[in-house]
Amino acid sequence: MKNIVLIGFMGTGKSTVGKRLARRLNYAFIDTDQAIEEITGLTVSQIFAKHGFKRFRGEEALLASKLADKERLVIATGGGLVLNSGNVEKMQRNGVLICLEASPEAICRRVKNKRTRPLLAKGNLMVTVQRLLKERQSAYEMAELTVNTDKLSPEEIVDRIIQFML
Ligand code: S3P
Repeated sequence: MKNIVLIGFMGTGKSTVGKRLARRLNYAFIDTDQAIEEITGLTVSQIFAKHGFKRFRGEEALLASKLADKERLVIATGGGLVLNSGNVEKMQRNGVLICLEASPEAICRRVKNKRTRPLLAKGNLMVTVQRLLKERQSAYEMAELTVNTDKLSPEEIVDRIIQFML
């Protein structure tokens, strides 16, 4: 059984939806940010501050390699993991990429947890979100299914993903 890999921008609901999806399918759930925090013993923000964003991207690549040959996982990826084409290739090896998207307004309302989101900690939130969304559009378009999460409940999003997988 292939893994289900949730990709997309911060605040689109990957972790919330991923946990519920895993429960419904009886798959294991992995959140890459949380896994990296456990492996390094540091929060995402601490890794960025102490070692720089390249180190964090390095941890993501190591984790992507570890997960590539696993099965029956729902993986909620950090919003930047698919910017590395090597990670995409690894995730696609045994997984289906599904993108969750949301409007910039919904994203700004939802991204309260700055501990894992140092990229949004400085400057005007809306300006930063719009710039990063534009830069990343082509990476997120690699998904086989995209679900807009603005007006759907987590359970409705899970239903759509399960229907697609059938
Ligand atoms: C990032 C998204 C974050 C986290 C890190 C970098 C990004 O994860 O991996 O702050 O570059 O978009 P979430 O998408 O789970 O918020």
